[in-house]
Amino acid sequence: MPDKYMLNFDSRVLPQEEDEYIVLGSGIAGLYTALAASGAGGSVTVLTKCSMMNTSTDKAQGGIAAALGDSDSPALHREDTIVAGAGLCDDEAVSALVNEGPKRVKELIGMGAIFDYDGHGLAMTREGAHSQRRILHASGDATGAEIQRVLTERVREKKIKVRESHFAVDLLVWNNTCYGVLAFDRDMDSLKVYRGKVVVLATGGLGRLFEFNTNPEIATGDGKAIAFRAGAEVMDMEFIQFHPTVLHLPGAPTFLISEAVRGEGAYLRNSEGLRFMPRYHDLLELAPRDIVVRAILEEMARTDSNKVYLDLTHLDPEIIRKRFPNITKTCSLYGLDIMVDPIPVAPAAHYMMGGVKTNLVGETSIKGLYACGEVACQGVHGANRLASNSLLDGLVFGGRIVEETRQFLKDYHPRHPKFACDWLLGPTKIDFGELRQKLEALMCANVGPIRNRGGLKESLAFFDYWSYLNRHTVNGVEQMEVKNMLQVGELVAEAALSRRESRGGHYRVDYPDTHRRWQKHIIFRR
Ligand code: SIN
Repeated sequence: MPDKYMLNFDSRVLPQEEDEYIVLGSGIAGLYTALAASGAGGSVTVLTKCSMMNTSTDKAQGGIAAALGDSDSPALHREDTIVAGAGLCDDEAVSALVNEGPKRVKELIGMGAIFDYDGHGLAMTREGAHSQRRILHASGDATGAEIQRVLTERVREKKIKVRESHFAVDLLVWNNTCYGVLAFDRDMDSLKVYRGKVVVLATGGLGRLFEFNTNPEIATGDGKAIAFRAGAEVMDMEFIQFHPTVLHLPGAPTFLISEAVRGEGAYLRNSEGLRFMPRYHDLLELAPRDIVVRAILEEMARTDSNKVYLDLTHLDPEIIRKRFPNITKTCSLYGLDIMVDPIPVAPAAHYMMGGVKTNLVGETSIKGLYACGEVACQGVHGANRLASNSLLDGLVFGGRIVEETRQFLKDYHPRHPKFACDWLLGPTKIDFGELRQKLEALMCANVGPIRNRGGLKESLAFFDYWSYLNRHTVNGVEQMEVKNMLQVGELVAEAALSRRESRGGHYRVDYPDTHRRWQKHIIFRR
Protein backbone atom coordinates (compact mmCIF):
# COMPACT_ATOMS: atom_id res chain seq x y z
CA MET A 1 0.00 0.00 0.00
CA PRO A 2 1.84 3.11 -1.14
CA ASP A 3 0.21 5.44 1.40
CA LYS A 4 0.17 3.30 4.53
CA TYR A 5 3.13 5.04 6.18
CA MET A 6 4.56 8.55 6.21
CA LEU A 7 8.24 7.59 6.37
CA ASN A 8 10.58 4.89 5.14
CA PHE A 9 11.82 2.80 8.08
CA ASP A 10 12.82 -0.67 9.18
CA SER A 11 11.78 -1.68 12.70
CA ARG A 12 14.66 -4.21 12.94
CA VAL A 13 17.27 -1.48 13.06
CA LEU A 14 15.41 0.95 15.32
CA PRO A 15 15.64 1.18 19.11
CA GLN A 16 12.63 -0.44 20.77
CA GLU A 17 10.79 -0.09 24.06
CA GLU A 18 8.00 -2.31 25.26
CA ASP A 19 5.14 -1.82 27.70
CA GLU A 20 1.68 -3.28 28.14
CA TYR A 21 0.01 0.05 27.46
CA ILE A 22 1.23 2.70 25.04
CA VAL A 23 -0.93 5.79 25.48
CA LEU A 24 -0.74 8.55 22.88
CA GLY A 25 -1.67 11.96 24.26
CA SER A 26 -1.44 13.71 27.62
CA GLY A 27 -4.81 15.44 28.07
CA ILE A 28 -7.52 14.20 30.41
CA ALA A 29 -8.25 11.05 28.37
CA GLY A 30 -4.60 10.03 28.03
CA LEU A 31 -3.43 10.76 31.57
CA TYR A 32 -6.53 9.32 33.23
CA THR A 33 -6.20 6.12 31.17
CA ALA A 34 -2.50 5.92 32.03
CA LEU A 35 -3.23 6.32 35.74
CA ALA A 36 -6.02 3.74 35.66
CA ALA A 37 -3.82 1.27 33.75
CA SER A 38 -0.92 1.78 36.12
CA GLY A 39 -3.27 1.49 39.12
CA ALA A 40 -4.44 -1.86 37.73
CA GLY A 41 -0.84 -3.09 37.66
CA GLY A 42 -0.09 -2.44 33.99
CA SER A 43 3.18 -1.05 32.68
CA VAL A 44 2.55 2.18 30.79
CA THR A 45 4.34 4.65 28.55
CA VAL A 46 2.68 7.91 27.53
CA LEU A 47 3.88 9.56 24.31
CA THR A 48 3.00 13.20 23.77
CA LYS A 49 4.08 15.32 20.86
CA CYS A 50 4.91 18.53 22.73
CA SER A 51 5.11 19.09 26.46
CA MET A 52 2.83 17.15 28.79
CA MET A 53 0.74 20.22 29.62
CA ASN A 54 0.23 21.35 26.03
CA THR A 55 -3.28 19.93 25.60
CA SER A 56 -6.84 20.98 24.86
CA THR A 57 -7.72 19.90 28.41
CA ASP A 58 -5.40 22.53 29.84
CA LYS A 59 -7.25 25.22 27.88
CA ALA A 60 -10.80 24.12 28.82
CA GLN A 61 -12.61 26.92 30.60
CA GLY A 62 -16.28 26.20 31.23
CA GLY A 63 -16.12 22.99 33.16
CA ILE A 64 -17.10 19.40 33.51
CA ALA A 65 -20.73 18.30 33.53
CA ALA A 66 -21.93 15.68 36.03
CA ALA A 67 -25.30 15.04 37.64
CA LEU A 68 -24.19 15.82 41.19
CA GLY A 69 -26.73 18.49 42.13
CA ASP A 70 -29.71 17.81 44.46
CA SER A 71 -32.31 18.51 41.78
CA ASP A 72 -30.34 16.74 39.05
CA SER A 73 -30.14 13.11 37.97
CA PRO A 74 -28.29 11.02 35.36
CA ALA A 75 -31.66 10.65 33.59
CA LEU A 76 -31.95 14.44 33.14
CA HIS A 77 -28.32 14.69 32.01
CA ARG A 78 -29.01 11.86 29.58
CA GLU A 79 -32.05 13.60 28.15
CA ASP A 80 -30.15 16.87 27.57
CA THR A 81 -27.24 15.03 25.94
CA ILE A 82 -29.57 13.17 23.60
CA VAL A 83 -31.55 16.27 22.62
CA ALA A 84 -28.30 18.14 21.82
CA GLY A 85 -27.04 15.14 19.81
CA ALA A 86 -29.81 15.67 17.22
CA GLY A 87 -30.86 12.05 16.73
CA LEU A 88 -27.42 10.48 16.41
CA CYS A 89 -26.39 9.73 19.99
CA ASP A 90 -25.71 6.13 20.90
CA ASP A 91 -28.11 5.44 23.78
CA GLU A 92 -25.84 3.05 25.62
CA ALA A 93 -22.81 5.32 25.30
CA VAL A 94 -24.80 8.22 26.74
CA SER A 95 -26.06 6.05 29.61
CA ALA A 96 -22.47 5.05 30.39
CA LEU A 97 -21.39 8.71 30.35
CA VAL A 98 -24.11 10.08 32.63
CA ASN A 99 -24.27 7.11 35.03
CA GLU A 100 -20.53 6.62 35.49
CA GLY A 101 -19.65 10.32 35.21
CA PRO A 102 -20.39 11.35 38.81
CA LYS A 103 -18.22 8.52 40.18
CA ARG A 104 -15.30 9.50 37.93
CA VAL A 105 -15.59 13.18 38.89
CA LYS A 106 -15.55 12.23 42.57
CA GLU A 107 -12.46 10.18 41.84
CA LEU A 108 -10.83 13.30 40.33
CA ILE A 109 -11.69 15.20 43.49
CA GLY A 110 -10.17 12.34 45.49
CA MET A 111 -6.98 12.74 43.45
CA GLY A 112 -6.81 16.36 44.56
CA ALA A 113 -8.73 18.39 41.96
CA ILE A 114 -10.00 21.57 43.58
CA PHE A 115 -13.33 22.67 42.13
CA ASP A 116 -15.15 25.86 43.15
CA TYR A 117 -17.58 25.79 46.08
CA ASP A 118 -20.42 28.08 47.07
CA GLY A 119 -22.38 28.26 50.31
CA HIS A 120 -24.20 24.97 49.47
CA GLY A 121 -21.35 22.76 48.30
CA LEU A 122 -19.85 22.31 44.84
CA ALA A 123 -20.66 25.41 42.75
CA MET A 124 -22.45 24.56 39.53
CA THR A 125 -23.19 26.69 36.51
CA ARG A 126 -25.37 26.23 33.42
CA GLU A 127 -24.33 26.17 29.81
CA GLY A 128 -26.22 25.92 26.53
CA ALA A 129 -28.92 23.22 26.26
CA HIS A 130 -28.50 22.03 29.89
CA SER A 131 -31.79 21.93 31.79
CA GLN A 132 -29.93 22.07 35.13
CA ARG A 133 -27.00 23.82 36.72
CA ARG A 134 -24.58 20.89 36.55
CA ILE A 135 -21.24 22.25 35.33
CA LEU A 136 -18.47 22.09 37.92
CA HIS A 137 -15.70 24.61 37.48
CA ALA A 138 -12.33 25.46 39.00
CA SER A 139 -10.69 28.84 39.68
CA GLY A 140 -13.75 30.33 37.98
CA ASP A 141 -12.88 29.73 34.35
CA ALA A 142 -9.73 27.59 34.48
CA THR A 143 -11.28 24.15 34.98
CA GLY A 144 -9.13 22.33 32.46
CA ALA A 145 -5.91 23.73 33.87
CA GLU A 146 -6.83 22.39 37.33
CA ILE A 147 -7.64 18.93 35.94
CA GLN A 148 -4.43 18.93 33.91
CA ARG A 149 -2.45 19.95 37.01
CA VAL A 150 -3.84 17.19 39.17
CA LEU A 151 -3.49 14.42 36.58
CA THR A 152 0.05 15.52 35.68
CA GLU A 153 1.06 15.53 39.35
CA ARG A 154 -0.40 12.06 39.95
CA VAL A 155 1.30 10.66 36.82
CA ARG A 156 4.65 12.08 37.98
CA GLU A 157 4.09 10.76 41.49
CA LYS A 158 3.42 7.25 40.14
CA LYS A 159 6.55 7.54 38.00
CA ILE A 160 4.65 6.62 34.86
CA LYS A 161 6.98 6.99 31.88
CA VAL A 162 6.08 10.05 29.84
CA ARG A 163 7.99 10.74 26.65
CA GLU A 164 7.49 14.38 25.73
CA SER A 165 8.30 15.71 22.23
CA HIS A 166 7.47 12.28 20.80
CA PHE A 167 5.37 12.44 17.65
CA ALA A 168 3.42 9.29 16.72
CA VAL A 169 4.26 8.87 13.04
CA ASP A 170 2.29 5.71 12.34
CA LEU A 171 0.70 2.70 13.98
CA LEU A 172 2.32 -0.68 13.50
CA VAL A 173 -0.53 -2.89 12.34
CA TRP A 174 -0.35 -6.32 10.81
CA ASN A 175 -3.28 -8.62 10.06
CA ASN A 176 -5.66 -6.12 11.64
CA THR A 177 -3.77 -6.22 14.95
CA CYS A 178 -1.91 -3.25 16.40
CA TYR A 179 1.52 -4.05 17.85
CA GLY A 180 2.78 -0.58 18.64
CA VAL A 181 3.76 2.81 17.34
CA LEU A 182 6.52 4.26 15.21
CA ALA A 183 7.46 7.49 17.00
CA PHE A 184 9.73 10.39 16.16
CA ASP A 185 11.72 11.83 19.04
CA ARG A 186 11.94 15.53 18.23
CA ASP A 187 14.74 16.21 20.70
CA MET A 188 16.96 13.41 19.42
CA ASP A 189 15.80 13.79 15.80
CA SER A 190 15.39 10.03 15.57
CA LEU A 191 12.83 7.26 15.15
CA LYS A 192 11.94 4.68 17.77
CA VAL A 193 9.49 1.79 18.04
CA TYR A 194 7.19 1.58 21.08
CA ARG A 195 5.69 -1.88 21.30
CA GLY A 196 2.56 -2.49 23.32
CA LYS A 197 -0.20 -5.01 23.88
CA VAL A 198 -2.69 -2.17 24.02
CA VAL A 199 -2.24 1.10 22.14
CA VAL A 200 -4.59 3.85 23.28
CA LEU A 201 -5.21 6.85 21.06
CA ALA A 202 -6.00 9.90 23.20
CA THR A 203 -4.56 12.50 20.86
CA GLY A 204 -7.48 14.97 20.85
CA GLY A 205 -9.13 16.85 18.03
CA LEU A 206 -8.49 18.65 14.77
CA GLY A 207 -9.52 22.27 15.33
CA ARG A 208 -6.25 23.51 13.85
CA LEU A 209 -7.48 22.51 10.40
CA PHE A 210 -9.48 25.73 10.53
CA GLU A 211 -7.92 29.17 10.37
CA PHE A 212 -10.27 30.33 13.17
CA ASN A 213 -10.35 27.88 16.05
CA THR A 214 -10.16 27.62 19.82
CA ASN A 215 -7.69 24.75 19.93
CA PRO A 216 -4.03 24.58 21.00
CA GLU A 217 -1.42 24.07 18.29
CA ILE A 218 -1.25 20.32 18.92
CA ALA A 219 -4.80 19.76 17.57
CA THR A 220 -3.94 18.72 14.01
CA GLY A 221 -5.98 15.52 13.82
CA ASP A 222 -2.93 13.22 14.04
CA GLY A 223 -4.64 10.36 15.89
CA LYS A 224 -7.53 10.21 13.46
CA ALA A 225 -5.11 10.29 10.52
CA ILE A 226 -2.76 7.56 11.76
CA ALA A 227 -5.70 5.31 12.66
CA PHE A 228 -7.29 5.78 9.25
CA ARG A 229 -3.99 5.10 7.46
CA ALA A 230 -3.62 1.93 9.51
CA GLY A 231 -7.06 0.73 8.38
CA ALA A 232 -9.30 1.68 11.33
CA GLU A 233 -12.88 2.77 10.76
CA VAL A 234 -13.74 6.43 11.34
CA MET A 235 -17.28 7.68 11.92
CA ASP A 236 -19.29 10.93 11.92
CA MET A 237 -16.43 12.95 10.39
CA GLU A 238 -18.84 15.62 9.12
CA PHE A 239 -19.83 16.74 12.61
CA ILE A 240 -17.68 19.63 13.80
CA GLN A 241 -18.82 21.92 16.56
CA PHE A 242 -18.16 25.63 16.18
CA HIS A 243 -18.08 27.67 19.36
CA PRO A 244 -20.28 30.76 19.11
CA THR A 245 -18.21 33.19 21.14
CA VAL A 246 -14.51 33.54 20.44
CA LEU A 247 -12.74 36.85 20.96
CA HIS A 248 -12.53 38.71 17.67
CA LEU A 249 -10.24 41.66 18.07
CA PRO A 250 -7.45 42.81 15.73
CA GLY A 251 -4.09 41.74 17.15
CA ALA A 252 -5.60 39.42 19.78
CA PRO A 253 -5.37 35.62 19.61
CA THR A 254 -8.55 33.59 19.03
CA PHE A 255 -9.41 33.25 22.70
CA LEU A 256 -12.52 31.40 23.87
CA ILE A 257 -15.14 33.32 25.82
CA SER A 258 -16.76 30.50 27.75
CA GLU A 259 -20.39 29.59 27.24
CA ALA A 260 -20.62 29.82 31.02
CA VAL A 261 -20.57 33.61 30.53
CA ARG A 262 -23.94 33.28 28.79
CA GLY A 263 -24.87 30.75 31.48
CA GLU A 264 -24.42 33.55 34.02
CA GLY A 265 -26.70 35.86 32.00
CA ALA A 266 -24.66 37.64 29.30
CA TYR A 267 -26.54 38.79 26.17
CA LEU A 268 -25.55 38.56 22.53
CA ARG A 269 -26.02 41.80 20.60
CA ASN A 270 -25.46 42.54 16.93
CA SER A 271 -23.33 45.43 15.70
CA GLU A 272 -26.42 47.66 15.88
CA GLY A 273 -26.58 46.95 19.63
CA LEU A 274 -29.73 44.80 19.37
CA ARG A 275 -30.19 41.58 21.33
CA PHE A 276 -31.08 39.04 18.65
CA MET A 277 -31.36 35.54 20.17
CA PRO A 278 -35.05 36.03 21.15
CA ARG A 279 -35.77 36.00 17.39
CA TYR A 280 -34.05 32.62 16.94
CA HIS A 281 -34.78 30.25 19.85
CA ASP A 282 -36.81 29.89 23.05
CA LEU A 283 -33.63 29.13 25.01
CA LEU A 284 -32.23 32.51 23.88
CA GLU A 285 -28.45 32.76 24.40
CA LEU A 286 -28.42 29.21 25.81
CA ALA A 287 -29.83 27.55 22.70
CA PRO A 288 -27.78 24.62 21.30
CA ARG A 289 -24.43 25.80 19.96
CA ASP A 290 -25.12 25.16 16.28
CA ILE A 291 -28.25 27.32 16.46
CA VAL A 292 -26.43 30.15 18.22
CA VAL A 293 -23.61 29.95 15.66
CA ARG A 294 -25.97 30.20 12.70
CA ALA A 295 -27.91 33.03 14.34
CA ILE A 296 -24.64 34.93 14.82
CA LEU A 297 -23.57 34.33 11.21
CA GLU A 298 -26.96 35.52 9.98
CA GLU A 299 -26.75 38.68 12.10
CA MET A 300 -23.19 39.32 10.89
CA ALA A 301 -24.34 39.03 7.27
CA ARG A 302 -27.44 41.18 7.84
CA THR A 303 -25.48 43.96 9.51
CA ASP A 304 -22.46 43.60 7.21
CA SER A 305 -20.11 43.01 10.13
CA ASN A 306 -17.49 40.33 10.93
CA LYS A 307 -18.49 40.11 14.60
CA VAL A 308 -21.25 40.40 17.18
CA TYR A 309 -20.93 41.38 20.85
CA LEU A 310 -21.22 39.58 24.13
CA ASP A 311 -22.62 42.02 26.66
CA LEU A 312 -22.02 41.51 30.39
CA THR A 313 -22.43 45.14 31.37
CA HIS A 314 -25.78 44.53 33.13
CA LEU A 315 -24.28 41.82 35.38
CA ASP A 316 -22.77 42.28 38.84
CA PRO A 317 -19.06 43.17 38.30
CA GLU A 318 -18.08 41.37 41.50
CA ILE A 319 -19.60 38.10 40.28
CA ILE A 320 -18.00 38.49 36.86
CA ARG A 321 -14.56 39.11 38.31
CA LYS A 322 -14.89 36.10 40.61
CA ARG A 323 -16.39 33.70 38.06
CA PHE A 324 -14.26 34.70 35.06
CA PRO A 325 -10.86 35.91 36.26
CA ASN A 326 -9.02 34.47 33.28
CA ILE A 327 -11.40 35.99 30.70
CA THR A 328 -11.39 39.33 32.54
CA LYS A 329 -7.59 39.37 32.58
CA THR A 330 -7.09 38.26 28.98
CA CYS A 331 -9.59 40.80 27.64
CA SER A 332 -7.96 43.57 29.68
CA LEU A 333 -4.61 42.71 28.07
CA TYR A 334 -6.22 43.80 24.79
CA GLY A 335 -7.73 46.96 26.21
CA LEU A 336 -11.21 45.63 26.99
CA ASP A 337 -12.84 46.16 30.38
CA ILE A 338 -15.61 43.55 30.19
CA MET A 339 -17.61 45.28 32.97
CA VAL A 340 -18.15 48.24 30.63
CA ASP A 341 -17.18 47.14 27.10
CA PRO A 342 -19.18 44.53 25.16
CA ILE A 343 -16.78 41.80 23.96
CA PRO A 344 -16.44 41.45 20.16
CA VAL A 345 -16.87 37.77 19.27
CA ALA A 346 -17.32 35.46 16.28
CA PRO A 347 -17.69 31.67 15.89
CA ALA A 348 -14.63 29.43 15.52
CA ALA A 349 -13.98 25.68 15.16
CA HIS A 350 -13.98 24.11 18.60
CA TYR A 351 -14.69 20.37 18.88
CA MET A 352 -14.91 17.28 16.67
CA MET A 353 -17.77 14.91 17.40
CA GLY A 354 -16.54 12.33 14.88
CA GLY A 355 -13.40 10.25 14.94
CA VAL A 356 -12.01 6.76 15.27
CA LYS A 357 -14.99 4.45 15.67
CA THR A 358 -15.02 2.48 18.91
CA ASN A 359 -17.42 0.29 20.81
CA LEU A 360 -18.52 1.06 24.37
CA VAL A 361 -15.21 -0.09 25.83
CA GLY A 362 -13.04 1.97 23.51
CA GLU A 363 -12.06 -0.83 21.13
CA THR A 364 -11.54 0.23 17.50
CA SER A 365 -11.97 -1.99 14.44
CA ILE A 366 -8.27 -2.98 14.84
CA LYS A 367 -7.41 -5.49 17.56
CA GLY A 368 -5.24 -4.00 20.30
CA LEU A 369 -6.03 -0.42 19.24
CA TYR A 370 -8.27 1.60 21.55
CA ALA A 371 -9.35 5.23 21.52
CA CYS A 372 -10.93 7.68 23.96
CA GLY A 373 -11.57 11.41 24.22
CA GLU A 374 -11.92 13.69 21.23
CA VAL A 375 -10.02 11.42 18.85
CA ALA A 376 -12.64 8.71 19.36
CA CYS A 377 -16.25 8.30 18.29
CA GLN A 378 -18.57 5.88 20.02
CA GLY A 379 -21.57 8.11 19.32
CA VAL A 380 -21.81 9.65 22.79
CA HIS A 381 -22.07 13.19 21.38
CA GLY A 382 -24.17 12.36 18.33
CA ALA A 383 -24.24 15.21 15.82
CA ASN A 384 -23.66 17.92 18.42
CA ARG A 385 -21.92 17.67 21.79
CA LEU A 386 -23.62 19.04 24.87
CA ALA A 387 -21.37 21.68 26.46
CA SER A 388 -18.92 20.42 29.08
CA ASN A 389 -19.49 16.75 28.27
CA SER A 390 -16.05 16.37 26.69
CA LEU A 391 -13.87 16.28 29.79
CA LEU A 392 -16.30 13.75 31.26
CA ASP A 393 -16.10 11.63 28.10
CA GLY A 394 -12.31 11.35 28.48
CA LEU A 395 -12.65 10.06 32.04
CA VAL A 396 -15.50 7.63 31.50
CA PHE A 397 -14.28 5.97 28.32
CA GLY A 398 -10.62 6.03 29.37
CA GLY A 399 -11.65 4.17 32.53
CA ARG A 400 -13.67 1.68 30.50
CA ILE A 401 -10.69 0.83 28.29
CA VAL A 402 -8.65 -0.22 31.29
CA GLU A 403 -11.51 -2.21 32.84
CA GLU A 404 -11.90 -4.05 29.54
CA THR A 405 -8.25 -4.78 28.83
CA ARG A 406 -6.64 -5.59 32.16
CA GLN A 407 -8.07 -9.15 32.20
CA PHE A 408 -7.11 -10.29 28.72
CA LEU A 409 -3.62 -8.76 28.95
CA LYS A 410 -2.47 -11.40 31.41
CA ASP A 411 -2.84 -14.17 28.83
CA TYR A 412 -1.91 -12.16 25.76
CA HIS A 413 1.66 -12.60 24.59
CA PRO A 414 1.85 -11.34 21.03
CA ARG A 415 4.78 -12.19 18.79
CA HIS A 416 5.82 -8.88 17.31
CA PRO A 417 6.23 -8.93 13.53
CA LYS A 418 8.81 -6.80 11.79
CA PHE A 419 7.63 -3.67 10.09
CA ALA A 420 9.27 -1.81 7.23
CA CYS A 421 8.57 0.60 4.44
CA ASP A 422 11.00 1.39 1.61
CA TRP A 423 8.67 2.42 -1.17
CA LEU A 424 8.24 6.14 -0.47
CA LEU A 425 9.91 8.58 -2.86
CA GLY A 426 12.19 11.33 -1.54
CA PRO A 427 10.74 14.51 0.02
CA THR A 428 9.17 17.10 -2.27
CA LYS A 429 10.35 20.70 -2.47
CA ILE A 430 6.95 22.24 -1.83
CA ASP A 431 6.40 24.87 0.87
CA PHE A 432 4.43 23.04 3.58
CA GLY A 433 3.83 26.27 5.52
CA GLU A 434 2.08 27.80 2.55
CA LEU A 435 0.13 24.60 1.90
CA ARG A 436 -1.06 24.57 5.50
CA GLN A 437 -2.30 28.14 5.25
CA LYS A 438 -4.24 27.30 2.09
CA LEU A 439 -5.77 24.27 3.76
CA GLU A 440 -6.84 26.21 6.87
CA ALA A 441 -8.43 28.96 4.76
CA LEU A 442 -10.18 26.43 2.52
CA MET A 443 -11.61 24.53 5.51
CA CYS A 444 -12.96 27.78 6.98
CA ALA A 445 -14.48 28.89 3.68
CA ASN A 446 -15.98 25.59 2.51
CA VAL A 447 -16.19 23.11 5.37
CA GLY A 448 -17.15 25.48 8.18
CA PRO A 449 -20.51 25.98 9.89
CA ILE A 450 -22.31 26.61 6.59
CA ARG A 451 -21.60 24.23 3.71
CA ASN A 452 -22.79 23.57 0.18
CA ARG A 453 -22.10 21.10 -2.60
CA GLY A 454 -19.96 23.48 -4.69
CA GLY A 455 -17.64 24.37 -1.82
CA LEU A 456 -17.29 20.78 -0.69
CA LYS A 457 -16.52 19.63 -4.23
CA GLU A 458 -13.88 22.36 -4.54
CA SER A 459 -12.31 21.19 -1.28
CA LEU A 460 -12.24 17.59 -2.44
CA ALA A 461 -10.52 18.64 -5.66
CA PHE A 462 -7.86 20.36 -3.51
CA PHE A 463 -7.31 17.20 -1.44
CA ASP A 464 -7.25 15.08 -4.55
CA TYR A 465 -4.57 17.29 -6.09
CA TRP A 466 -2.31 17.09 -3.02
CA SER A 467 -2.80 13.34 -2.59
CA TYR A 468 0.36 12.82 -4.69
CA LEU A 469 2.26 13.75 -1.51
CA ASN A 470 1.29 10.33 -0.11
CA ARG A 471 3.89 8.78 -2.40
CA HIS A 472 6.65 10.91 -0.84
CA THR A 473 8.41 10.84 2.47
CA VAL A 474 8.53 14.02 4.57
CA ASN A 475 11.01 15.99 6.64
CA GLY A 476 10.10 16.72 10.24
CA VAL A 477 7.03 17.03 12.40
CA GLU A 478 5.60 20.15 10.76
CA GLN A 479 5.39 18.35 7.43
CA MET A 480 3.92 15.23 9.03
CA GLU A 481 1.25 17.38 10.67
CA VAL A 482 0.31 18.90 7.32
CA LYS A 483 -0.02 15.43 5.79
CA ASN A 484 -2.27 14.37 8.66
CA MET A 485 -4.32 17.54 8.23
CA LEU A 486 -4.77 16.78 4.51
CA GLN A 487 -5.85 13.26 5.37
CA VAL A 488 -8.51 14.21 7.92
CA GLY A 489 -9.61 17.34 6.04
CA GLU A 490 -10.48 15.14 3.11
CA LEU A 491 -12.48 12.78 5.34
CA VAL A 492 -14.44 15.71 6.80
CA ALA A 493 -15.21 17.15 3.36
CA GLU A 494 -16.13 13.74 1.94
CA ALA A 495 -18.52 12.97 4.80
CA ALA A 496 -20.02 16.48 4.60
CA LEU A 497 -20.65 16.07 0.88
CA SER A 498 -22.22 12.65 1.42
CA ARG A 499 -24.70 13.78 4.09
CA ARG A 500 -27.42 15.47 2.08
CA GLU A 501 -29.30 16.99 5.01
CA SER A 502 -28.57 19.32 7.94
CA ARG A 503 -28.21 18.02 11.47
CA GLY A 504 -26.36 19.22 14.58
CA GLY A 505 -22.91 20.51 13.69
CA HIS A 506 -23.40 19.83 9.97
CA TYR A 507 -25.38 22.44 8.03
CA ARG A 508 -25.89 22.42 4.26
CA VAL A 509 -27.60 25.45 2.71
CA ASP A 510 -28.56 23.24 -0.23
CA TYR A 511 -30.13 20.64 2.12
CA PRO A 512 -31.31 22.71 5.10
CA ASP A 513 -33.77 20.16 6.54
CA THR A 514 -33.19 17.15 8.77
CA HIS A 515 -34.41 13.85 7.35
CA ARG A 516 -35.29 10.65 9.13
CA ARG A 517 -33.67 8.60 6.36
CA TRP A 518 -30.36 10.24 7.31
CA GLN A 519 -30.62 9.21 10.94
CA LYS A 520 -27.56 7.04 10.50
CA HIS A 521 -23.79 7.25 10.66
CA ILE A 522 -21.29 7.59 7.85
CA ILE A 523 -18.33 5.27 8.38
CA PHE A 524 -15.15 5.33 6.29
CA ARG A 525 -12.32 2.85 6.06
CA ARG A 526 -9.43 3.00 3.64
C1 SIN B 1 -16.87 26.70 27.11
O1 SIN B 1 -16.38 26.97 28.18
O2 SIN B 1 -17.68 27.39 26.52
C2 SIN B 1 -16.42 25.43 26.43
C3 SIN B 1 -17.00 24.28 27.11
C4 SIN B 1 -17.16 23.14 26.17
O3 SIN B 1 -16.86 23.26 24.99
O4 SIN B 1 -17.65 22.10 26.61
